[in-house]
Amino acid sequence: MKHVPQLLYIVGTHFGDEGKGKIVDTLASQYDYAVRFSGGNNAGHTLYHQGKKIVLHLIPSAIFHPNTTCVIAQGVVLDPYGLQEEIKQVSTLMPGFDRRLAISGNCALLFPLHRDLDSMRETSLGNKKIGTTGKGIGPAYEDISARRAIRLYDLLSPNLPDKLHTLAHHASVIMQQPFDVIYSKLCCDAEFAKQTLSPFIVDTNTLLRDALEKNRPILFEGAQGIMLDLYAGSWPYVTSSSSTFAGLLTGTQIVPSPSNPVSVLGVCKAYTTRVGGGPFPTEIEGPIQDYLVEKGSEFGSTTGRKRRCGWLDLPMLRHAVRQGTVTSLCITKLDVFDTFDTISVCTMYDCNGRLLRYPPDNMNELEFCKPIFTMLPGWKQSTNHITDKNKIPTEMQSFISLIEQEVGVSIAIISVGTNRENIVWCRGEDLNLHEFPH
Ligand code: GDP
Ligand code: IMO
Ligand code: MG
Repeated sequence: MKHVPQLLYIVGTHFGDEGKGKIVDTLASQYDYAVRFSGGNNAGHTLYHQGKKIVLHLIPSAIFHPNTTCVIAQGVVLDPYGLQEEIKQVSTLMPGFDRRLAISGNCALLFPLHRDLDSMRETSLGNKKIGTTGKGIGPAYEDISARRAIRLYDLLSPNLPDKLHTLAHHASVIMQQPFDVIYSKLCCDAEFAKQTLSPFIVDTNTLLRDALEKNRPILFEGAQGIMLDLYAGSWPYVTSSSSTFAGLLTGTQIVPSPSNPVSVLGVCKAYTTRVGGGPFPTEIEGPIQDYLVEKGSEFGSTTGRKRRCGWLDLPMLRHAVRQGTVTSLCITKLDVFDTFDTISVCTMYDCNGRLLRYPPDNMNELEFCKPIFTMLPGWKQSTNHITDKNKIPTEMQSFISLIEQEVGVSIAIISVGTNRENIVWCRGEDLNLHEFPH
């Protein structure tokens, strides 16, 4: 049994897919609640249960732990068809799990029309397209900001037809399609959502506040990563919700205070990947990229797209630590480097002659940032089996120490394989995370 903080927020430090799902699943048995609070089914979180690979998009990655209640909080946009598929998939592996699933009645619904709008927008952007997951995320969050989204509670309201009318009217203008067609389709989609999701509707704000008051342990599962955050990320090549602490606050309505501080574990891959468009200073091309894709299985968990690969980017990691209030780090996928002679790490950027330790405040300049690398020797041995921090090869220890020194945050956990047991606790039994507010 490890000593874990009562409130823990797991956040991706780069462009998503850092291995958050595996880490949540690994820690979840010690938490009463696990909460998704931002994004939608653009997320794809992979874990292994009884030897089977499972990719979760909306259901928290703690679902296979029988004592953990899984909460989808109000910051998530909910695709009823996607969720229904996922519920079916998880049910076959763990019948009865649905009693532990609670969904906020304030979640906004994401309908097929949002996916149509997403693809329409991407097509119109041509070669400047964002490279979205095509799940309709941007349009669904737009509807929240514009106050015309349909929330789960609305499905139970006598005013539902009016609300659907407003949404359909807007979509028909934008998409230049007949109102009647859009409206009748929306009515069917809303009916489907009502039939399938009503049993899960819970006042999760009160559920979580009560849990907080009773000092129950809660794990917050971040989606995406800091560089995809709507405000802190590589704008405009970002997602439409907030992956930072701000997203946790608005997405759960929980406010940390000195009496209930939150620890933040930043999950960072030993190298960097990105799916979709946008600047990527440490991107690698050629055989090393091909090797990382193959050995690291770098294919999008949601779309199957090949992920772009690059060396570890420390300016972005420093940014994540600062913007994400990261108090401790977990480095994943170190085993992918097992055969490497040398490993590069970007410690700074040269941006048109300026040396930068952080990404530029003006994200338009990120594409002009050239990486400055430090090269480290590889460990040239298999590491999957390591579970004892004293057995970490010296060269891997140097890699870890370099990150800690450059970023100023200590590494609590390293991950050396896809399964729960492929993990090393670098600080023994105690995660000893610092907390926010400090
Ligand atoms: P998430 O979105 O952050 O949850 O990450 P994804 O699940 O999209 O992608 C991470 C991928 O890396 C998945 O295929 C995981 O099974 C895999 N993975 C996680 N940790 C490790 C690790 O330490 N080593 C290896 N080889 N694979 C890992
Ligand atoms: P997890 O939680 C990796 C990326 C998309 C695209 C951009 C905008 O698995 O780490 P969107 O569909 O959100 O409008 O796309 O964001 N993106 C992700 N990349 N992992 C994710 O989630 C992502 N969620 C969105 O590829 O570049
Ligand atoms: Mg993912």
